[in-house]
Amino acid sequence: MSSLKEIRSTFLDYFAADGHTKVQSAPLVPQNDPTLLFVNAGMVPFKNVFTGQEKRPYNRATSAQKCVRAGGKHNDLDNVGYTARHHTFFEMMGNFSFGDYFKEHAIEAAWNLVTKDFGIPKDRLMATVYIDDDEAFDLWKKIAGLPESRITRIAGSDNFWSMGDTGPCGPCTEIFYDHGDHIWGGPPGTPDEDGDRWVEIWNLVFMQFEQQEDGTRLNLPKPSIDTGMGLERVAAVLQGVHSNYETDLFRTLINASEEATGVAAQGDQAPSHRVIADHLRSSSFLIADGVTPSNEGRGYVLRRIMRRAMRHAHLLGAADPLMHRLVPTLVAEMGEAYPELTRAQATIEDTLKQEELRFRTTLGRGMTLFEEATRDLAEGGTLPGATAFALYDTYGFPLDLTQDEARRRGFAVDTDGFEAAMTEQRDRSREHWKGSGQTASTAEWLALRDRLGPTDFIGYDDVDGTGEVLALVVDGAPAEQAPEGAEAELVLDRTPFYGEGGGQAGDRGTLSWTGGRAEVLDVQKPAPDLYVHRIRITSGTLKTGDRVEASVTALARLTTRSNHSAAHLLHAALKNVLGPHVAQKGQMVDAERMRFDFSHNAPVTDDELARIEDEVNAVIRQNLPAETKLMGPDEAIAAGAVALFGEKYGDEVRVLTLGHSLVEDKPYSVELCGGTHVARTGDIALFKIVSESGIAAGVRRIEALTGEPARQYLEAQARVARGLARDFKIQPADVPGRVEALQTSVKTLEKQVAELKKQVALGGGRGGNTAPEEIGGTRLIARVLDGVDGKGLRGVAEDFRKQVVSGVVALIGTTDGKAAVTVAVTSDVTDRINAADLARAAVLAMGGQGAGGKPDFAQGGAPDASKAEAGLQAVRDALGG
Ligand code: ALA
Repeated sequence: MSSLKEIRSTFLDYFAADGHTKVQSAPLVPQNDPTLLFVNAGMVPFKNVFTGQEKRPYNRATSAQKCVRAGGKHNDLDNVGYTARHHTFFEMMGNFSFGDYFKEHAIEAAWNLVTKDFGIPKDRLMATVYIDDDEAFDLWKKIAGLPESRITRIAGSDNFWSMGDTGPCGPCTEIFYDHGDHIWGGPPGTPDEDGDRWVEIWNLVFMQFEQQEDGTRLNLPKPSIDTGMGLERVAAVLQGVHSNYETDLFRTLINASEEATGVAAQGDQAPSHRVIADHLRSSSFLIADGVTPSNEGRGYVLRRIMRRAMRHAHLLGAADPLMHRLVPTLVAEMGEAYPELTRAQATIEDTLKQEELRFRTTLGRGMTLFEEATRDLAEGGTLPGATAFALYDTYGFPLDLTQDEARRRGFAVDTDGFEAAMTEQRDRSREHWKGSGQTASTAEWLALRDRLGPTDFIGYDDVDGTGEVLALVVDGAPAEQAPEGAEAELVLDRTPFYGEGGGQAGDRGTLSWTGGRAEVLDVQKPAPDLYVHRIRITSGTLKTGDRVEASVTALARLTTRSNHSAAHLLHAALKNVLGPHVAQKGQMVDAERMRFDFSHNAPVTDDELARIEDEVNAVIRQNLPAETKLMGPDEAIAAGAVALFGEKYGDEVRVLTLGHSLVEDKPYSVELCGGTHVARTGDIALFKIVSESGIAAGVRRIEALTGEPARQYLEAQARVARGLARDFKIQPADVPGRVEALQTSVKTLEKQVAELKKQVALGGGRGGNTAPEEIGGTRLIARVLDGVDGKGLRGVAEDFRKQVVSGVVALIGTTDGKAAVTVAVTSDVTDRINAADLARAAVLAMGGQGAGGKPDFAQGGAPDASKAEAGLQAVRDALGG
């Protein structure tokens, strides 16, 4: 039995022996086409080579290309799990000729591989050709010796392949395999062709045209070949099974899912396991290529796939998040052929787990709503669009998830109603939206990029240079000129300005030309290698064709470089100090500072931060030259480079090496990076962390400064210390000891003050002697206590009550110009004297509102402390009267 891995390498080796260059799979996110959500065929990365816009050093290539078909023109999501062959992710094996061989060699090579190397019996095979393609028809007779009855002519799109609404296209010929008469179905072109017996295994496209947006077709510069062989399908054939899900790779994944859930893949449970296995592949590969779940665009397609799998995990009764536990099995199976999967393993696991935790909080409630809405529906009934929308909007159920659940139970979903509810909500939110500075659309930038070619970026070596104005965009439309005061977007043939990318901000600076000047506010790359400068014209008029002198603000560039290189050092230090699980989650460097986000599950301690800082500064002091090498991606990864997920794996990548390890004989940091960097590590001068914080579950952020800003930061801190030292008249180093001593002494003094206040109150105060006075036969202690509030009076009153033995204590405390009154009466006299009455008399005499309490203890307050003596007099009068 040939394993999937063996079939993959047999294919690639076979074509390599036939003069084809092996090309590594491109990332799933198309690097050259904004009209496409994901790479969905092996030819996509070669699109511009077919049309002649791009030249490669080879004219024959072969690849195993990662493909995702979910969303967009080719969308298989809904069927996955229920059929033998649908996938959201699959591998397309291909051989390509760019103006080299054409039909004859393509058919011959495919036929020999299939029948000789793979050993598929000839009598199980047949071919289709495009309706009028006599040449292909005759070639199948000649090369394969197929009888005419086994070569079928087909009209229409089944045998005319196009990538999308635009792009290279041409008639094709397909090879079909007969799984045998135990399965229902007929050969292509017959009424039973939709059955599963005859399966297309290989499509050979004779690329001849380029479909234009207006519907016309141009001839390609040279006839070419694009082929696509479904690896999973051929594995099923060679392993003697009917369903792709019974092949070795899928059986391993499904076994892992069975083990993790404790549920066998049988009966009603089988589709759930198939969905999980398939979606595990697409989700993991998409995350490895930099897609993160979100609510729009590619991120939403990923979220739909993930949530669909997660609902099936829930159906299988998985109590805890499941998907991330299956990643190690997938990596073990596919990590060798796709190293990006291994490199991103931690990120993939983390992303799947977080999404599953999040979705689980609403999944249960959403399912309840679903149950309620369908309880009274008859078999074959339709779930209202408004309910589907509520599930989407409130519970995070993508529409296809709701449809999938409905389908399982024999219901339909009113998708028109869903769309209507969606449109209504969109219109509502659009009313709140105000258009801002217009710019051209991505498609327009791409068209411009196709027309102008890539910008020559000279900024790795220079901060100044001359360029020619190739295009100007004013208010979102191409313009011949931009007048003084205008804001515009500008493309030059060459530029020293860095375009934002890889977590480095775009450069700022100035442009000057004969008779004019402009400021460069930002630089972006809306299409690959197209540097678009956002400018404001400060004088003169700028026209296309003008030659301009471009200068990057040099100091800003210097700090940006230093921050970017330091971010690489920080990344390495984090791995050394915290552990290899640390994965970069994001980064932003500009002329002011650096922000670096990474996965780690706990706050970084002060001690760890200090070690990280020490390491980075030690490497800075090595002052070794930064080395940039251009390498092929494989070579770079073999050299130990840390790849940035989702970056373009071009034919050549820049690999940056910084410093030397402090413990081993190897470089300190090796990363793929297109940013601008220091010449020597010593140029960074100084590295200082200014903050560490958590920004999401399991993600930490460090902010740091380098060079002059770091020095200024330290200087500001030192200035504070120096100021304190001067005030204390001691050395700065002694400040902490002194502050501690002061804190201790403040505490001691506070205690003493409280004690003294009490002593003073008991011993003296204004308005009376230490001995009680006697009024109308009653002993009275009456005092005004400055600086004692109502609360303080309580304790003092208790002490005085003991002192008076039998009688009355009347106290007035004064704080902040206000007065507090406390009257205490010993229990032996409460039958004739009421504390509350006395307190009230005092308060009223001082212009207050009243007092309250019990016969033996009462308190009140008055606004004017200056009348304290009058208050005490009122008490005396009340006792005497
Ligand atoms: N590009 C062709 C396909 O996807 C080979 O079928």
